[in-house]
Amino acid sequence: MTYAIEAEGLVKRFRETEALAGVDLAARKGTVLGLLGPNGAGKTTAVRIFATLLRPDGGWARVAGHDVVREAGVVRSLVGLTGQYAAVDENLTGTENLLLIGRLLGLPRREAKARAGELLERFQLTHAAGRAAKTYSGGMRRRLDLAASLVGRPSILFLDEPTTGLDPPPLSNALERGDPHAAASCGTCCAAWSRTGRPPC
Ligand SMILES: Nc1ncnc2c1ncn2[C@@H]1O[C@H](COP(=O)(O)OP(=O)(O)OP(=O)(O)O)[C@@H](O)[C@H]1O
Ligand SMILES: [Mg+2]
Repeated sequence: MTYAIEAEGLVKRFRETEALAGVDLAARKGTVLGLLGPNGAGKTTAVRIFATLLRPDGGWARVAGHDVVREAGVVRSLVGLTGQYAAVDENLTGTENLLLIGRLLGLPRREAKARAGELLERFQLTHAAGRAAKTYSGGMRRRLDLAASLVGRPSILFLDEPTTGLDPPPLSNALERGDPHAAASCGTCCAAWSRTGRPPC
């Protein structure tokens, strides 16, 4: 079986800190995997490896069957990532932020605009679409950040502490609309649930 996300013996060290000491996991398509652990447990490190932002020091990881080191380019084309801290451009409006990402991903202008509008509506930001992100509340920024990670219709979505500053409904709505085939999420609020069930958070 090809798992959406799979790892065996994953190790990552930062000097004397062993952030990951042999992590094994597997997530099937159509599921949400929750990585739970206290501060410093290695959740962000694991997600950064799956999203090809960090190289592991040992073990292996595959996303949609592709090795995150040897096939990093393919993996990047399949995944979306919402990091632990919002990464929106404060000086751009909600629409401009999403348009920028759409264009960087190679969408034609018209398509990028339509996708931006659709996602702003989905995350209940239409009323603020023309305002600079710096005027958004913390939760609004987080929603824009989540929307940004979905612009390219990723097959697999990584969410690092997705519920920080966010009410649960926007997140569960986004995952239920059928964009990602699977998601990995970290934080203390989320656990695994099936695509047909309701999230516990
Ligand atoms: N770039 C880095 N350089 C040095 N040490 C790092 C680096 N990134 C992470 N670490 C260390 O690796 C360990 C795991 O960190 P990580 O950020 O993965 O934890 P986390 O589970 O996401 O924590 P939190 O719940 O606080 O977000 C910590 O001890 C951290 O200090
Ligand atoms: Mg973290």
